Amino acid sequence: MHSVEAVLEAFADRQYVADRSLGVSVYLALELGRPLFLEGEAGVGKTEVAKVLAAVLGSELIRLQCYEGLDVNHALYEWDYARQMLAIRIIEARGEGSHAQVADIMSRDYLIPRPLLQAVEAAAEGNRPVLLIDELDRADEEFEAYLLELLSDFQVTIPEIGTIAAKEPPVVVITSNRTREIHDALKRRCIYHWVDYPDFDREVEIITTKIPDMDERLARQIAAAMQTLRSLELFKPPGVAETLDWAKALRVLGSRTLDAASVEDTLGVVLKYREDVERVLELGPDRVAGGE
Ligand SMILES: Nc1ncnc2c1ncn2[C@@H]1O[C@H](COP(=O)(O)OP(=O)(O)OP(=O)(O)O)[C@@H](O)[C@H]1O
Ligand SMILES: [Mg+2]
Repeated sequence: MHSVEAVLEAFADRQYVADRSLGVSVYLALELGRPLFLEGEAGVGKTEVAKVLAAVLGSELIRLQCYEGLDVNHALYEWDYARQMLAIRIIEARGEGSHAQVADIMSRDYLIPRPLLQAVEAAAEGNRPVLLIDELDRADEEFEAYLLELLSDFQVTIPEIGTIAAKEPPVVVITSNRTREIHDALKRRCIYHWVDYPDFDREVEIITTKIPDMDERLARQIAAAMQTLRSLELFKPPGVAETLDWAKALRVLGSRTLDAASVEDTLGVVLKYREDVERVLELGPDRVAGGE
């Protein structure tokens, strides 16, 4: 993709409605060979950027889902102990436990590559993958420190085997829901982009793009209601995922228009906290329905 416009078009072809600033960030990340760091609230389309980017580039998507307690072993590689034990038993049974055979057990064949090693190996073979490091804010800071090191040289040293180095770094997309701040040192390496909730027009476009037979008027009503809901200082404001779920739910129920009754019936599709549902019911569902 040789321009920002080309990025935006390629994304639109795959039903991702990006605003220009996201297009610029994606383009720069690709051109400068830097990781793309996407931060934003839940359900605004961060993970989808990596999926779409892999599809656009025709690359393999390798995903590392972060969680509390994720350690380097789970992210990089693990030895296949079960197979190693089996191999040792066979060697013992044959009664020929030579050094050469023991060394075989510590070879690549007995390694289970996890996402980071998979990405480095693919890149070392010249197949440049898209590496998605999803929800990095959930991982611990030690893991982040390791990642910083990896991102600087894209090589992995396995003591028993040697060093594997990527010829060209993988395309890296990092996402965070900002439940905590990611260190400056890591962010400095990346192209940073805050993924915001879409504005009214873009949200209408997202609905009509993703759900082709969607009535334009209903799409506009839903988008307007979403803007209202997000202005209410809810505990958990709904993202684009909820917008699309809502549109699909209304279609299943055969609702042609968004009125107080249909809002009340379907609030559970959009809001996932009792306090938020109560807040809207107190305010009056007609206030949400009457946004447009
Ligand atoms: N700009 C967009 N164009 C088209 N679809 C979108 C857009 N933004 C979000 N979506 C859709 O919304 C849904 C949620 O997106 P996604 O899972 O990427 O959100 P997220 O930011 O990663 O959320 P979370 O923080 O919960 O992981 C997906 O189905 C995605 O296709
Ligand atoms: Mg996500």
